[in-house]
Amino acid sequence: MTTLADKKVLLGITGGIAAYKTPELVRRLRDAGAQVRVVMTPAAQAFIAPLTLQAVSGHRVHSELLDAEAEAGMGHIELARWADELVIAPATAHAIARLAHGFADDLLATLALATEARISVVPAMNRVMWASRPVTENCQRLEALGMRLLGPASGEQACGEVGAGRMIEPDQIVAALSDKTDLLAGHRFVVTAGPTHEALDPVRFLGNRSSGRMGFCLAAALAEAGARVDLVAGPVNLATPPGVSRCDVQSAREMLAAVMARIEGADGFVGVAAVADYRPESVADHKIKKSDEALAMRLVPNPDILAEVSKHPARPSLVMGFAAETRDLAEAARQKLARKQLDLIAANLVGDGLAFDCKENALEVFSTERHWSLPQQAKSMLARALVDIIAERMPSKGG
Ligand code: CTP
Repeated sequence: MTTLADKKVLLGITGGIAAYKTPELVRRLRDAGAQVRVVMTPAAQAFIAPLTLQAVSGHRVHSELLDAEAEAGMGHIELARWADELVIAPATAHAIARLAHGFADDLLATLALATEARISVVPAMNRVMWASRPVTENCQRLEALGMRLLGPASGEQACGEVGAGRMIEPDQIVAALSDKTDLLAGHRFVVTAGPTHEALDPVRFLGNRSSGRMGFCLAAALAEAGARVDLVAGPVNLATPPGVSRCDVQSAREMLAAVMARIEGADGFVGVAAVADYRPESVADHKIKKSDEALAMRLVPNPDILAEVSKHPARPSLVMGFAAETRDLAEAARQKLARKQLDLIAANLVGDGLAFDCKENALEVFSTERHWSLPQQAKSMLARALVDIIAERMPSKGG
């Protein structure tokens, strides 16, 4: 079945070793029904010949911004208008930096500014470069500007190292481009994300290491699939995904109130937040002073937001939780699924540098009758895989 029928895909290739996979990508895109035009940066041409891309795409490759011959045919503005999708694969750290800052000194960067098409960026670089702060911040900027990141994957790299930074496979790129924008059209989801902070006094709190990234990626993927999304976020340092409506809270009780104010009429609820199970019984009016004595503190249980939603009279038709465990993953997840009467639960191991505050994760997803294993990958890719599982279980609403 063709999934990209009549889609016009503009493929931008930048100078990374993964460029050797792009002829295969062009073939897969065309097999899926897309029309493909190719733009290459000068550095990309050091890795793969334009003639190869011309042969597989069936069109002349574009590379110069100031090319009189090209401008007389399909010039850069026409090319920008022509595209339904701009995919930049592989995207090097350098290309990502340029896109994040709106450069317009070569054809590809100019096209990215001039097009109204959706832009998907497919990173490929050494694992240490991928984990570096400039690349992380530039990627956050790209997402805040409305571009999508596809990948990267983990595994063996051209440089001989092993880790996150490999370009995802051509098949995965084609799948991510396939039109899913109406998969959840007409549905509204409420999603919680991030940690909660439970105040001890005016300057201190009890919290946890959750970055909020998984919940934000899921909110983004649900919105991308056409759902309306209300994201209730604990204290995190993340940009709101495009098309998502966000409410910021601090404590579990504030999170519960914000969720309950939005639950009526929602079709789905996904609790991704790492909600603090306990809070200090009382909050000191003034900063607690140090003394030589041990400090005893009484903690009282917080409401369980997920369980409250699940037993609410206006229960959404799909209620999904997450389970962060340090051992006995499947057993603990299945128990939570039953105890909180959930439709789905996504479980992962935490601790020892896993999951919390990482860009990657692996998930085991359970319903009462099924089990899916989603291998280690970027949280944005995991979120898209979860959306497929969620969409399968939602009653159809049509357009
Ligand atoms: N959750 C919630 N409200 C709480 C605690 C948890 O909504 N007060 C939700 C989380 O968002 C997550 C799921 O419940 O979707 C499981 O969270 P987790 O902390 O793993 O489970 P707990 O029920 O707190 O059990 P435990 O801490 O004993 O593992």
